[in-house]
Order: sequence, then C-alpha cells, then structure tokens
Amino acid sequence: MPAPIRKAVFPVAGLGTRFLPATKAVPKEMLTVVDRPIIQYVVDEAREAGIEHFIFITGRNKHVIADHFDVSFELKHTLRERGKQKALELLEQFRLAPGKTSFTRQQEPLGLGHAVWCAREMVGNEPFAVLLPDVLVKVERGCLAQMIDTYNQTGGNVIAVEEVPEDQTNQYGVVDVEDAGTDGVYHVHGMVEKPAPGTAPSNLIITGRYILQPQVFDYLEDQETGAGGEIQLTDALMKLMKAQGMSGLAFEGKTYDCGSKIGFLSANVAYALSREDLADDYRAVLKDLLAD
Ligand code: G1P
Repeated sequence: MPAPIRKAVFPVAGLGTRFLPATKAVPKEMLTVVDRPIIQYVVDEAREAGIEHFIFITGRNKHVIADHFDVSFELKHTLRERGKQKALELLEQFRLAPGKTSFTRQQEPLGLGHAVWCAREMVGNEPFAVLLPDVLVKVERGCLAQMIDTYNQTGGNVIAVEEVPEDQTNQYGVVDVEDAGTDGVYHVHGMVEKPAPGTAPSNLIITGRYILQPQVFDYLEDQETGAGGEIQLTDALMKLMKAQGMSGLAFEGKTYDCGSKIGFLSANVAYALSREDLADDYRAVLKDLLAD
C-alpha cells in the first residue's frame, strides 16, 4: 500500500470577482448551495475520503471560513437554552475536530501554484490532496474517495480528469493522454494550462482534485509564471509528471463549476432536487416557473 493521504489543501484565497457584489464582504467559498456553503461540500468530500487534517490557504476577508469550521459557543448555548436539539446535532455533524485544521494566508494573489506552495510546511514530506472549492462533484461516492481507490493501486500522482466540449478547453488545464485508459485510469503524458482555442491536446480537462507527492513543492519553489502571468500548478505538475509519472482518473459523477454563475445556479437546482426534504415542492415550483 502506498503512504496514506492524510492531509488536504483547500486554496480559498481567490477574490471571487465574477460574483461581485455578492463577494465584496463574503468569500465566494461561503456562497450557499441550498443551505450549506460551497466549502462545506468540498470539506465533506475530503472527510469521506478519510482526510484527517484540513489545510486552508486563505487571504484577507476570509476569516469567516475559519469561523464556519469552529465551535460557536454563543450559538450552541442559545440553541441549547431553546431546546433546538436538531440544529445542535447539525452543527456537531459539520464541525472539524480540534487541532485538525490549519490556516495560512496567501499574502499576494500570485496564482494557484503559489497558493499550494504556501502549504509546503504544513504538508511536510508526505503525499497529500488538493481540492479546489470552485468545483463540486455530485456523486454517491465522492470524487476524492474514488481517486484514493485508484491511488491505492497505482501510488504516485493522481489527478481527476473529465471531458468537456472542445470550445471550453481554453478555460481549464488540459491533459494529453496516450490511450483510452483502463478502468477509467489514463496515463497522462502532457498537459497545458488554458490552451488557446484550437490548440488543446484533447478535450480532457483537469477537474480540480489532485493527489500529489510532496516533490511538487520543489517544482513550485521556482515560482515561474505561466498562463495569465500567474504561478500555475499545472506547470509544476508537468515537471512532476515527467519525473514520477501521473495517472488521470475519469471519475464518476457530475461536475458543477461554481466559479461560473451558470455552474453555481445549476448546482443549487441539482442539490435541491436531490434533497428529500425539498425535492417534491421544488420540482413543482420549477415546473411552474418553466411553464411561464
Ligand atoms: C484551475 C486550474 C486548472 C483546472 C481548473 C478546474 O483553474 O489551474 O488547471 O482545470 O482550476 O476548475 P482556475 O479555475 O483557477 O482558473
């Protein structure tokens, strides 16, 4: 068995400019899908996959993310006094264990690669996961859990990949693969961040879930800038891939890119429709709205 994946990094420093004015005072990761902040879904996906330590790369105006995963003594006290047992249980269910979270600030917005590099001391010398909170994957068994299944067989580096229409490849990191893959696992042999339209090596994109060996920090150390003038994770992954190899898992599940308004709105509809307490009423409302 390869070394267990115990730690996960959540880069949550982004400004969320696409969602202004909503994100002026509220971090984009705290926007809600149904009744939970986006970051909650991603943290739950990591918990389900067995992650024990949660590392958040934050920035200014992001302290509410730490508050969200903390115990709110006043709220607990008030709920207890009012006999709101269900609400208390709900809070308990989402809390992260003491000492199992770490927060550090990405002091300047230099790119995703730089954000991940900021976690180097907290991760140390062991393989770890990265989950981008813009991306929600809706599925029975979470995307990271599926990737860990693959990792337990292959070891090394594993990234989640999925197909998108060709005219969208310029919005993502795109991989080049050799063959059709076995059991959904591809051998990745090239990648490029945000290729110009018409130049992508395939229509398989990097979804925003990664299992990486700690040597990735050595490549990020160079602080070289790439696409968009930012320090790109994909550029470091390319070097890591050449040195160690990399698997791409075509995971099961439906992805919602909550970094875009359509993706975020779609996530709200999809998650609400899969909630027992809301589905019937909400379906009826949607039918009415669509009939207009
Ligand atoms: C980042 C990564 C990109 C990946 C994408 C997934 O881009 O750099 O490789 O495909 O997330 O959402 P961003 O969305 O931060 O521009």
